[in-house]
Amino acid sequence: MNITVFLGAPGSGKGTQAKKLAQDKGFFHFSTGDMLRAEIKKGTELGTKARAYIDKGELVPDTVMIELIEDSLLRVRRDGNVLLDGFPRTLAQAKALDSKQSTSVGLSILFEVPETLLIERLTGRRSCSQCAEPYHIVFIPPKVSGLCDKCGGKLTQRTDDTEDVVKRRLEVFKRQNDELLHYYASKKNLARIDANRSVNDIQQELSHVIEQWYTLNHSVN
Ligand code: AP5
Repeated sequence: MNITVFLGAPGSGKGTQAKKLAQDKGFFHFSTGDMLRAEIKKGTELGTKARAYIDKGELVPDTVMIELIEDSLLRVRRDGNVLLDGFPRTLAQAKALDSKQSTSVGLSILFEVPETLLIERLTGRRSCSQCAEPYHIVFIPPKVSGLCDKCGGKLTQRTDDTEDVVKRRLEVFKRQNDELLHYYASKKNLARIDANRSVNDIQQELSHVIEQWYTLNHSVN
């Protein structure tokens, strides 16, 4: 299994790019945030537990997240290319992922965006309630206000994209990020992407970085 992880602050554009890569290149895309929100929607015990953390901008405990991602990876075929978006978030999660030969991370990519832009990106984010297509009210607006260009679904705002919760999420990110970056930099598999550019430019560079990495190290299907 070839695992690529997307690292970066909330709002740095990981989800936007991960969805495109999964569509274009057939990667198995796991977004832990999307998975938790799906559990909340279904009203499961996990969803109820996760909501208490998400709504405050705090991280869900490592044990819960590690079990969730391990269960998901069991469904991927052995030669599959996997994209993890939002996991790992802590050193304990990164080490758990690398603790088994079959799930060790090949490439990690850090999305770099100036902090001053992140609050605007997050509070202006909207996504389609039907197909989950991401938008931004200023940067990536839909053609018809409030409606998805792709399926006509209603656009909604995440409950944790209010300014107060966003500020807390950014604080939590800063607290965990240094040791996570240090961990991947020491493994010499960390690439950095300037994510303060157009979605298309970033997409092109990402494809290039990933193809180059796997050409040198593995083969991408
Ligand atoms: P999660 O859903 O993972 O949220 P996040 O990491 O905070 O990341 P975001 O989804 O907010 O941002 P993104 O980088 O994907 O940006 P996006 O592409 O949407 O997690 C939510 C919560 O779940 C966490 O707070 C935590 O409680 C819990 N959780 C999840 N995983 C966990 C874990 N492993 N451990 C513990 N707890 C966990 O873009 C943002 C906006 O910018 C959009 O509007 C988009 O349209 C716009 N945009 C994107 N790219 C560009 C661009 N190039 N130019 C202009 N605008 C752009």
